[in-house]
Amino acid sequence: MVSIVNVIALVALLALAKASIVSPLHKTDGIRASNQLPLLNLSAKMEMDGEILADLIPTSPESEPPMEKQPLFVFRNSTVGFTRISGAGVSVTSGAGASLGFSFSIEALNATLLQENSVVFRRRLTMEENVSYTELVRNYSGGLNMPFMETIGANLDMNVTRDDLTESFNSQSNYNSKARAARNVLTADPPTMLTLSGSIMVSGNSIIPKTFFPFAKVAQVQLNNGTSVVVVSTDPKDIVAATAEGFTTESAPVPEE
Ligand SMILES: *[C@@H]1O[C@H](CO)[C@@H](O)[C@H](O)[C@H]1NC(C)=O
Ligand SMILES: *[C@@H]1O[C@H](CO)[C@@H](O)[C@H](O)[C@H]1NC(C)=O
Ligand SMILES: *[C@@H]1O[C@H](CO)[C@@H](O)[C@H](O)[C@H]1NC(C)=O
Ligand SMILES: *[C@@H]1O[C@H](CO)[C@@H](O)[C@H](O)[C@H]1NC(C)=O
Ligand SMILES: *[C@@H]1O[C@H](CO)[C@@H](O)[C@H](O)[C@H]1NC(C)=O
Ligand SMILES: *[C@@H]1O[C@H](CO)[C@@H](O)[C@H](O)[C@H]1NC(C)=O
Ligand SMILES: *[C@@H]1O[C@H](CO)[C@@H](O)[C@H](O)[C@H]1NC(C)=O
Repeated sequence: MVSIVNVIALVALLALAKASIVSPLHKTDGIRASNQLPLLNLSAKMEMDGEILADLIPTSPESEPPMEKQPLFVFRNSTVGFTRISGAGVSVTSGAGASLGFSFSIEALNATLLQENSVVFRRRLTMEENVSYTELVRNYSGGLNMPFMETIGANLDMNVTRDDLTESFNSQSNYNSKARAARNVLTADPPTMLTLSGSIMVSGNSIIPKTFFPFAKVAQVQLNNGTSVVVVSTDPKDIVAATAEGFTTESAPVPEE
């Protein structure tokens, strides 16, 4: 009798062991599934319903909110995501690597250039703010987290809503003066045709060959007047490989000669 119970226990144990062998595979699938890029379709016009249009903030100087009573919005909102930058992909299996070249023109604002053009923004900062700003600038490597925007709660590397901006307004002094300077930088020049070119090294992640394409990280920023502009990251690490549906695999930028 006792031995039968033991056998049952052993069978149960074996089943458990089997389950724990199986589960890491499921886990890997889960990780892979969560590595799906948020995709932005830049050719799709941003839909604006009447309610949203009516809610737009007036942009003429006379109708701007009085200083520090209500927030001055640097923009309406911003959505971060990835956009495919080549129709040609490479097919690879796990253990194999391939180089994937791209040359893509996009009508956008250049993140590095915006940060470079933000000199006037720094003059709006207190000495204390200038210290943390200097560190952000030192760390900045061309991504969508431009320090002059991040400082006012508008880090384009994340989705930014009006609520986020209002929160920053409520927690900073002299917010509107900084936001106005940042908005001037953002809207000083219209987007131009930029060319993203280079190549990335793509590693396969499955036995069955999968085709990967290059994607670039961009932010779609809706300005206060309802038009939208695209800001493109100039950090080489923000060009990544993924399937057409956006499922990523390991990739690395190939340094230019
Ligand atoms: C992007 O949007 C355009 C215009 O709405 C549409 O024709 C196109 O099929 C969309 N592309 C993708 C990949 O969804
Ligand atoms: C920004 O606004 C547009 C249009 O109102 C909307 O489609 C989009 O989802 C918003 N993005 C975020 C991050 O809230
Ligand atoms: C973005 O601007 C920087 C600084 O002016 C420049 O070096 C870089 O080539 C530009 N990138 C693109 C894609 O135009
Ligand atoms: C801010 O810091 C930078 C770098 O340390 C310095 O060159 C600049 O003069 C400072 N500006 C202000 C307004 O304190
Ligand atoms: C700058 O980068 C360093 C090292 O990655 C990090 O420890 C530090 O927190 C960063 N500073 C800011 C202000 O992001
Ligand atoms: C940002 O907003 C877009 C559109 O509203 C959404 O699809 C995406 O999941 C959001 N990303 C994050 C990190 O919240
Ligand atoms: C919206 O504002 C941008 C930046 O100031 C400007 O370039 C654009 O022409 C404006 N569009 C409309 C329809 O007013």
